[in-house]
This record gives sequence, structure tokens and C-alpha cells, in this order.
Amino acid sequence: MTMLDFSFYVTTPRLAITYFNPTKESHIDFTFEMYKDYTKVDENGNIEHIMPGRAAAIELIEARVTEIESTGYGRYCVSVLAPPSGPDDDTANRVQNATPVGLVGLNLRGPGTPPLPDIGINLLPSARGKGYALEAMKGLSDYYDREKGVTELLGYCDDDNTASKKVLRRAGFELLGERNIWVSQKSPAQVVTGEQPKSVLVWTRGLEKDPKDYGL
Ligand SMILES: CC(C)(COP(=O)(O)OP(=O)(O)OC[C@H]1O[C@@H](n2cnc3c(N)ncnc32)[C@H](O)[C@@H]1OP(=O)(O)O)[C@@H](O)C(=O)NCCC(=O)NCCS
Repeated sequence: MTMLDFSFYVTTPRLAITYFNPTKESHIDFTFEMYKDYTKVDENGNIEHIMPGRAAAIELIEARVTEIESTGYGRYCVSVLAPPSGPDDDTANRVQNATPVGLVGLNLRGPGTPPLPDIGINLLPSARGKGYALEAMKGLSDYYDREKGVTELLGYCDDDNTASKKVLRRAGFELLGERNIWVSQKSPAQVVTGEQPKSVLVWTRGLEKDPKDYGL
């Protein structure tokens, strides 16, 4: 297990990709904002908020840190770079002051799912429609290619998610078809029991073998 270095970042022309930091106020605020309206149904059929407050946001960020530390895969924070404050403003400073707007991840889903990471992206509604999704996906996948030699990727999306389909295609993914995948498994560290595989569109990029060899 490698401890994360929170000074790590990757930049694209407009964005910074960093680890989520449980001690950084802007990351806690963002995580709360992102999920504050998300609900789930509990075992008694009651609707409950998954993000009732800041403590829950910190807990989720801590789980994300552990995920990347233990598996090398997970979800990263996407922020819009602050404009340079002057001629001497360095990139590290602009990253430090960047505004979180979403997350991008390469995720392994755990038992019963294909053994390749799938790329995922989620932006705050106010940050959509500006091409940030493609930029963030490229930034993260280039980093995994360059630093970790990871080039075989999947993408999962719902058939009615037009924006996601366009972005995956533009990022160089090819549509394989509809498959039943255990997408509810968030990660190897967070295996969900009692859920069913779901029918999703599967996209692939850079596969070296036949999709069937990966259970697809
Ligand atoms: C999917 C998502 C990441 C796209 O990010 P984005 O940065 O807004 O993407 P872009 O700005 O490059 O837009 C992508 C394209 O989708 C189109 N689009 C956006 N929302 C749309 C909608 N609701 N219906 C149809 N087309 C839509 C855009 O017009 C654009 O097409 P164009 O370039 O031909 O005009 C973003 O919408 C999002 O976070 N959605 C919620 C989470 C999600 O669904 N994630 C994907 C799960 S697999």
C-alpha cells in the first residue's frame, strides 16, 4: 500500500486532476454539493440522503483515498484551474487554488466484473457543456498510459445517456454492445451485496485481446 502524496497533480489546458483530499475545504464542500440531492432507499423502504452533511463527505473522500492507495485505481477530483494571478504564478499555485467541478475515475469493480478499469466522469450541472469531460478523461487516461502503462480501458453508460455516449466516442472508445455488468460494485474495496448486474452499453479502447477473453 502506497500512501498518497496530496501534492500530486496532472493538468490539462483548463483543468487540474488531483487526489481528493479529506483535509481540503474546497474538496469537502464540492463533495457535499455533488451528492447532497442523491437519495437511496433503505431496507425499510424509506428514502434517505446518501450525503446528510459534511462528515459524510469527509468519510467518502477518505474511502476514495484508501481505494487508490490499495488498488491503484479510483476517483480523482477535477478542478478548473485558477487564472494566473501574475507573471510569476506557477502551476502548483494555480492547482492549489483551482475550483473543484467534478470527478473522473478509472475504476475496478471487483469480483464478477471484467478485470479492466472503466473510465467514469461526473460533473456538477454548472460545469457541463464546456467540453471538460473529454479534457478530464484524456488527462487521466494519458497519465495512466504514461506512468502506469495502462492502455486497455472500458467505459460503461446507460443507453439513454446521449452526452456520455458522445464523450466516450470522442475519447476514442468503440461501442461493443449491451452487456449485463455488476456496475453497482463501486470498487474491490466496496463490494455491494444483494444487487443485480445491470444492462449497460460497454465501450472499449485499446483492448489487446478478444473482448470474450475479459468476460465481455
Ligand atoms: C456526461 C457528462 C460527463 C458530459 O460532460 P460535458 O463536459 O458536459 O460534455 P461536453 O460538453 O463535451 O458535451 C458532450 C456532448 O453531449 C451533448 N449533451 C449534453 N447534455 C445532453 C443531453 N442531456 N442530451 C443530449 N445531448 C447532450 C452536448 O451538446 C455535447 O454535444 P455536442 O458537442 O455535439 O454539442 C456530463 O453531462 C455529466 O456529468 N453528466 C452526469 C453524469 C454522467 O452521466 N456521467 C456519465 C456516466 S457513464
